[in-house]
Amino acid sequence: MFCAEKEHFNYLRNIQLANITVKKHEKISNTLNEASHFGKLARLLYKIHIDPENDLQSELAPDQYYEQQKNRWETSWAGDDFNPIWKSSQIPPVLQRAIAEGWFPNSAAVLDIGCGDGEISRSLAEQNFEVLGIDYSASAVKRARETNENSSLKLSFSTADVTRLPPPQKLFDALIDIGCFHVIPKVFANKYKESIYSWSKPGARFLLQCNTEIGPHHNKPTEEERRNWWIAYILKTFEDAFHIEKIDKTNFYFSTERETNIPIPAIAAWMIRR
Ligand SMILES: C[S@@+](CC[C@H](N)C(=O)[O-])C[C@H]1O[C@@H](n2cnc3c(N)ncnc32)[C@H](O)[C@@H]1O
Repeated sequence: MFCAEKEHFNYLRNIQLANITVKKHEKISNTLNEASHFGKLARLLYKIHIDPENDLQSELAPDQYYEQQKNRWETSWAGDDFNPIWKSSQIPPVLQRAIAEGWFPNSAAVLDIGCGDGEISRSLAEQNFEVLGIDYSASAVKRARETNENSSLKLSFSTADVTRLPPPQKLFDALIDIGCFHVIPKVFANKYKESIYSWSKPGARFLLQCNTEIGPHHNKPTEEERRNWWIAYILKTFEDAFHIEKIDKTNFYFSTERETNIPIPAIAAWMIRR
């Protein structure tokens, strides 16, 4: 981890404790802007936003941590100028591949978990899937609905917490998660799994993409070690409920004002509901 990142991780912890909102982080970015390579800055901002080293706090005070994290997402999505850096000009390549290979059944009912502003949900609906995007941020869902209000696609959005889903009204043929599970505190990972298991049909396809740079993997300095940590974590969390067909190395692509498609190491797990 390069030095400015380390310094700002410490700073992040203090910020967390003081419960200062994401808006303040933007000021940090201006300072770092001068000194940092922009791709690294993009990663750092993302890490700051989602509080990567959340493990200790989330284990000691899970409910309090959870509320803080949820409020931060809500504050972000409620801001008119929120322009997430993980957005790039392209739908994740691994998702494109799954569609091109016919891995999802034709016209499948797809649940997009942690859909944010619904861009990926929309892209799936345009490819003839029937999509429900869920996000626990009401402002994210509002954005997604507003953007798609005149659309004739089979596309809807709902405010829902994936770790606390109510009993299902219908069962899904396919599930995607592009960047949500990796921000779920470890203590809630089983609740996440149980929820999505109960909302999906036996045999449902589940494509999960996680950023391997973030999360509770302290003392894992190399990219490969971080990736291996994530692979083990995914196996441990999902194996009893989902058959894990394969786990691929892939990337998220971040965009900043200056650069587009900055690759961020990620993995994609292709799973089939037992
Ligand atoms: C990194 S964003 C990814 C958004 C979208 N999938 C995309 O690729 O543009 C993660 C999203 O997960 C949502 N999220 C985090 N925890 C959640 C939870 N427990 N239930 C539902 N949504 C959650 C956040 O509000 C945020 O919109």
